[in-house]
Amino acid sequence: MQTVNIDLGHRSYPIHIGSGLLGQHGLLAGQVRSRAMIVTNETIAPLYLDKTLACLGNLPSSSVILPDGESFKNLEELNRIFTALLEENFDRNCTLIALGGGVVGDMTGYAAASYQRGVDFIQVPTTLLAQVDSSVGGKTGVNHALGKNMIGAFHQPVSVIADMDTLATLEERELRAGLAEVIKYGFIIDSDFFRWLEDNMDALLARDTNATGEAVRRSCEIKARVVEADEREHGLRALLNLGHTFGHAIEAAMGYGRWLHGEAVSAGIAMALDTSVRLQLIDEATRERGLKLLVRAGLPVTPPSDMTPETFLRYMARDKKANAGDIRLILLDSIGKAHVSADYDQRALHATLAHFAG
Ligand code: NAD
Ligand code: GLY
Repeated sequence: MQTVNIDLGHRSYPIHIGSGLLGQHGLLAGQVRSRAMIVTNETIAPLYLDKTLACLGNLPSSSVILPDGESFKNLEELNRIFTALLEENFDRNCTLIALGGGVVGDMTGYAAASYQRGVDFIQVPTTLLAQVDSSVGGKTGVNHALGKNMIGAFHQPVSVIADMDTLATLEERELRAGLAEVIKYGFIIDSDFFRWLEDNMDALLARDTNATGEAVRRSCEIKARVVEADEREHGLRALLNLGHTFGHAIEAAMGYGRWLHGEAVSAGIAMALDTSVRLQLIDEATRERGLKLLVRAGLPVTPPSDMTPETFLRYMARDKKANAGDIRLILLDSIGKAHVSADYDQRALHATLAHFAG
C-alpha cells in the first residue's frame, strides 16, 4: 500500500492506494466515529457492498443503493440519502462511505456536507477516474438540468481508500474515460508525467497493475499538491479544469450520461489545444503530440456532431469557470504548463467553435 497525504491543516487526510485494501479491516473501520452509512449504486452493490460491510466488522452500518448513472446525479436522488439517514436516526457523529465512481462520490460528499450541517465521509473510489481525481480534493455536488455540478459544496473526506483490485471489473470504456483525467495532469503541470504516459499507455490499457498503480499515485500526488495550494479554486486549482468548460457543455447539452465525463473532457482538451494554437501559445507539433496520446488512449478528440457553436456558448457562459459572462479558458503554454485566462482574443474561441461544431 502507498499513501499520499494531503495537507490541509485540520482537514488533512490520507489517500491510501493499493491492492486488497477492502480486505483490510482497520483501514476503513478505524475512520468511522460511530455508525456508518454506505452509499453505492445498483451496479457496484453486487460487486463490492458485502466486502465493504465486512470491512466494517461489528460497527453498526447500513447502506443506500442509488440508481446507476450521471442522469441520476441530481437533487431528487440525493434526497434518497437524506431519507435513509433520517429513517434510521443517524446523528451528526455518523460517517457516510462513498463506494463507487465519481457520481456516487460527488453525491455522497454533498450529502455529508449538508446532512445536519456536515458529517464525516470516506471516499472508496472504484473507477479509475474517481481514484485519480474525483475522490480527492473535496469538490462535491449534483447536476442541474441547466448546468453540470451547479449545486454543491467543498467538503473534504476524512480519508480516501483506493483499492486497485476494484478496477478489474471496470468496463473498458470507463477505464479509457478515467485516462482522460490522468493525461490532463501531464498537460497542465508535469511534462515528465506526460512522457511517462506516452511510454506506458499500452501497459495502462492492458491494465498492468504496476503501471496503473503508478498512474494513480502520481495523479493523486499532483492533485494533492494543487489542492493544498488552492483548496477553494481561487487560482491554481482552476488548471485542473483543462477541457472541462467545453466538456461540461457537451455533457449537459447531450443529456447527462450519453457522453462519459472523461470522454467529454478529452474532446474539450482537443478544443482547448486548438484555441491555444490559434492564440499562438503552442505550435502545431505540440498540439499533434497531445492529440496523439488522447487518441492512443481511445478517447474522442472531436465533440459530438450535433453540438453547435451556439449550444457551446450557451452552456459555457453558465459554467462556474465563467466570470460575469466572460468565458474563462484553461490554455496550454507547452506540454506541462497551462494558465487560466478570460482575457484572450475571443475570435480564437469562436474560430475553434466554428471549426469543431460549425
Ligand atoms: P461513474 O461514477 O458514473 O462510474 C462509471 C460507471 O462505472 C458507472 O456505471 C458505475 O456504476 C460503474 N462502476 C463503478 N465502479 C465500478 C467497478 N469497480 N466495476 C464495475 N463498474 C463500476 O463515473 P466516473 O467516471 O467514476 O465519475 C464521473 C463523475 O465524476 C462525473 O459526475 C464528474 O462530474 C465527477 N467528477 C468529479 C470531480 C471532483 O473533483 N469532485 C472530478 C472529476 C469528475
Ligand atoms: N476536478 C477538478 C477539481 O477537483 O478541481
